[in-house]
Amino acid sequence: MMDEAQEPGHAGPILHFRGMAGDGIRLATIIIRPLNAPAPPSLRVSTAGVAPVRIAEIANVAIWRHDFTLTPADRGYEFADCFYEVVTDLSGDLRLAFVSCNGEENGDLERDDDERNLMWTRLAQDHASAPFALLLQGGDQIYADEATQGHPLSEDWPDHAPEVDDSAALQDLARHLRNRFVERYLHVLRAPGYSWMAARVPTLAIWDDHDICDGWGSLPEKRARSAVGQALFQAARETYLLFQHGAVESDIPELFLDATGASLGWKRELPGLTIAAPDLRSERDRHRIMGPAGWQSVEALAPQGEHIFLVSSVPLLGPRLSLIERVMMAIPRMQHYEDDLRDQWQSRAHRAEWRRMLGQVLQWRDHARVTALSGEIHLATRAEMGPQAQKIHQLVASGISHRAPPRAYARLLGLFAGLGEAPLPGHPIRILPLPGQRHRYVAERNYLTLTRSAGHWQAVWHLEDSGKTPPLELSA
Ligand SMILES: [Fe+2]
Repeated sequence: MMDEAQEPGHAGPILHFRGMAGDGIRLATIIIRPLNAPAPPSLRVSTAGVAPVRIAEIANVAIWRHDFTLTPADRGYEFADCFYEVVTDLSGDLRLAFVSCNGEENGDLERDDDERNLMWTRLAQDHASAPFALLLQGGDQIYADEATQGHPLSEDWPDHAPEVDDSAALQDLARHLRNRFVERYLHVLRAPGYSWMAARVPTLAIWDDHDICDGWGSLPEKRARSAVGQALFQAARETYLLFQHGAVESDIPELFLDATGASLGWKRELPGLTIAAPDLRSERDRHRIMGPAGWQSVEALAPQGEHIFLVSSVPLLGPRLSLIERVMMAIPRMQHYEDDLRDQWQSRAHRAEWRRMLGQVLQWRDHARVTALSGEIHLATRAEMGPQAQKIHQLVASGISHRAPPRAYARLLGLFAGLGEAPLPGHPIRILPLPGQRHRYVAERNYLTLTRSAGHWQAVWHLEDSGKTPPLELSA
């Protein structure tokens, strides 16, 4: 009745960034092997060997991990007779890449490889010419939407979830979902461009809805809480931990801000830089974006860096969406996009919580520059929240492989975005064109590079057709 995961495969090494170790960096690599294959070899750092640990078995593959540290003097690591160069000195000039939306809702597994991975190939070339120290992934690292197809209990998800308490049937559903999630992760992790980057650039990722299913958290609560909905969330969570963090349940207290794992947001302190990502999915329901664990994590964040990159899987700063929401609802062809808009901080349903979040960001701004990095809308854009003395930048880069919506949609959004918004009095939000662009939203696939040179951060968007933008100064 159910299909199995694709012919069990190989993937990795995939690097995950754990944090600093003095002047050096702590890393973990994930290696994926068929269940019955022998252990992968030890990894070598200078003259020392690091043996792999088998951390999980799922859907006919075993996940192996090497935990290790690189000092600035180490130029990388050796694995299976190949030397992988890694940026190990994070103290001075630095380059980071930010991407989001690595897939599409329908037919992502059947897309032409070259077309799908075009921007990944460019990013890999970019890395080859000036290496990135980190790859930040801002949400929708996979599009799991089709995972629910092919099983009688989840076939009609999300429109209908049958009432079911037959534990054998639910176990069968869990097995089906895990197979499907693993298949999708392997597809992404083995993709040309991506796999090359992943072996050389440690990643930090935060999930968004498509890593679970479209609109997770904004669906009717009865459906999300159903046995089918919970099986879906559990499969998504287990594979998010494994493939996006190289982690299992017992690693949670070390890697995430909330030791209970109710919220899977994280923070990393680098020299002069704090990178943090609140989890906007685990505790979300129709009435809130974060719950007690998520809010506790955010309020206890205590960022140490002079600059903070706040990875927000849905944009923190946005236009007045209440009007757009109404217009979208009135245009049947646009209702798919209307669902996306309801999932935002700016939705009428989340206004009080949005102000709370912006107030928190302004507290951090007393001690540091704050730049929000966001994905999710499959367009490139930027925003600022004033006034000048407390300016917050937001850079939106989305998607790396998800194709852009129609240009007319970008223009329409741009028109509404001209209306401006000020959820906090005295702190106007403006949506602005990228450097060198006339319109506020660019409907092209894209990624973002962030460069620190002599202590100053600049951002450059890489647009599929228009190429690189002039740099945006983030200290101004
Ligand atoms: Fe997306």
